[in-house]
This record gives sequence, C-alpha cells and structure tokens, in this order.
Amino acid sequence: MRVLGIETSCDETSASVVDNGRILSNVVVSQIDVHSKYGGVVPELASRKHIEAISLVIDQALEQSGAGLEIIEGFAVTRGPGLIGALLVGMGAAKGLALARKAPLVGVNHLHGHLFSAQLEHKDIGYPFIGLVVSGGHTTIFEVSGPFEIERIGATRDDAAGEAFDKVAKLLGLGYPGGRVIEERASKSINRSLKFPRALLKDDAFDFSFSGLKTAVLKHVEQAFGVSIDSRPGSFHPVDRSAQTAERQTQIDDICYAFQESVIEVLATKVVLAAKTRNIPKIVVSGGVAANNALRNHLIERSQSEGLKIVFPSVKLCSDNAAMIAHRGETLLKAGIKDDLSMDARSRWQ
Ligand code: KG4
Ligand code: ZN
Repeated sequence: MRVLGIETSCDETSASVVDNGRILSNVVVSQIDVHSKYGGVVPELASRKHIEAISLVIDQALEQSGAGLEIIEGFAVTRGPGLIGALLVGMGAAKGLALARKAPLVGVNHLHGHLFSAQLEHKDIGYPFIGLVVSGGHTTIFEVSGPFEIERIGATRDDAAGEAFDKVAKLLGLGYPGGRVIEERASKSINRSLKFPRALLKDDAFDFSFSGLKTAVLKHVEQAFGVSIDSRPGSFHPVDRSAQTAERQTQIDDICYAFQESVIEVLATKVVLAAKTRNIPKIVVSGGVAANNALRNHLIERSQSEGLKIVFPSVKLCSDNAAMIAHRGETLLKAGIKDDLSMDARSRWQ
C-alpha cells in the first residue's frame, strides 16, 4: 500500500512515501538553525516554519518517490504528542490531501512511529520485543507483543534523556541541540575519573529520572569553574565562552564524558532489566538519542554478554522523520484503522 506520511510534531518538517514497508522517499527539513540561537525550540516559530516548508516538502517527497499524488492510497500524519501549533500544520495538510484524493487518513502516535521505525530496515525483527524510545521529549520503555499489543512499562518521571543532553549542553555553553556536540566532546575526554550519580539504579521499576543528574552537573560546574548558574526553569546562564581557557575546555570534555556515561548506564541497565524481567530476549532502541554511538556500542556489548539481541534503526531514521510515520500509518490502515476529518491534535499522548 502506498502511503504518504507527514511529520511536524517538533522542529523537523518531513514527508515520506512508503510502500509495503519500503521507503520510496523521506524528505526532512530541519529548523535547528532557527531555534539554536534561542537555546531550544520556540513553538510559535516552529509552527511558522512548518507552514513555510510543508508544501515544498510534500512535493519533493512525491517527486523523489516517483509517485504522483494520484497513486497514493492512504495518508498518515503525526497526531501527537508534540507542539499543538506544529502538529496542526501537518494535520491540516494531510486532511486536505486525503479529502482531495478521497483516500483514507490515519493519525499516528509519534512514539509508535519511533518504536516501529527499525522495522523499515530490519524486516525480521518479529515479536515480542522490548522497545526503548529515547528522544528529546521521551524516554519510554514498551513491551511490544504485536503491532497492536503495546504496553508502556516505564518512562521518565521528569526530563527525557535527550532533554538532559540539551540542558547540559546549554549550561556548558555548547549550543542547541546538545546530543551530538556532547557526544563529540565526550570522545575527546582524557581524564575519565569524574563520576556523576546514576538515578534509580537500585529501583526495580523501569522508570527513569534525569533531572538529578542535570543538577549534579550544574553543581559540579559551579564548583569547578567558580561560577554561579541560575538554575530556575528557563534561566540557565551558560558558562561564559569568552572565559574558556584550554584547561577549561578539557574540563568540559571530561564533564561531557561523565554525564554521557551516567545516561548510558542508566538507559542500558533499565532496558536490560526489562528484557530479563519480562523474559523477552530482543531489544529495539530508537529516537534521537539512539543516534549516539557510545550508547549503541555500550548496548551492543551489554546485550551480547547478557545473551540478548539488540536492534537500532540507522542514524538517519533515529531522529524525527516521516518515513516512520508512513510506516506505522501503513500498518494501521492495512488493519482498517483510520480517522476522519474531525481528528484533533494531541499535545500529550501515551
Ligand atoms: O527523536 P528526536 O529527533 O526528536 C524528539 O522526538 O524529541 O530527538 C532529538 C533529541 C535531542 O534532544 C538531541 O539532543 C538528541 O535527540 N540527540 C542525541 C544525539 N543526536 C541527537 N543525543 C545524544 N547523542 C546524540 N548523538
Ligand atoms: Zn521524535
């Protein structure tokens, strides 16, 4: 079934054509440059940028797929969770196209998009599996027994892992988003003796907490650099770049390493615990943070030693993209699940 997918939940405008689980096109236009100077996504700007980009992105996705609109058999769009104004842009476009084409439309849960994204490249994953979705907005563990048997068994109680990367990068003056730059700086670390706390490791639930780690990094930076950082929400004052000596740069590398190690160990411990407790020997990790090579390597090693199989989507399918939405949409539409034009957007949706 040829499905056009649309994704506009945050700061990527994306459209993709998928046919029977095969990606024919996947166009992603990122707004990172627009938001980076504000240190995070500005919702109003995100909506405006989606409006500017959406038609072009859909046109390109159709063109690159070699499929005209007339042979699209269904439309899938991210319904939530995400920024309401941003979601509405994609939903408006999808509704208009479905109406014009008189083809079925389905709203897709963004988390389920990530959760099943690895199937696009690994056809033989099968069921059941333990799915970890680890992104800027979510850190959630699912037990997945079938395409429609999805049990959420753990989630973060405060910050998402990607959000922690972004906040720590901001306080270190490393810009936005923080994941890739922290990974790069961590790889340069020479002194690897610094250690930050690992939250909830003794707790046998599958929940996470990353806000304490962020505070531990902040306290360490204040002490090590002799600065005072305002940690009230929205008011991080980044470490002044102009005052950064070579020695301080080295310290930042080491802090990035220690922070990243703490996140990795918590994620790995919880997901392995979930697999063992639920007696499911297969783990699928997806979402923007799953692009992190140190995390991937750690998880591969740990799974091997525990006798578990581990699967990741390729890096380009880890961050937000419409191919994962089209793929999930295709599964739903093939099962006869669809929505009508009165479908609303959902800022929160488990
Ligand atoms: O899945 P995604 O594109 O958007 C959401 O649904 O949130 O994930 C974006 C998040 C950001 O927080 C970003 O810092 C993080 O993924 N990220 C990474 C890496 N690349 C992106 N985190 C750690 N290491 C990376 N290499
Ligand atoms: Zn996402």
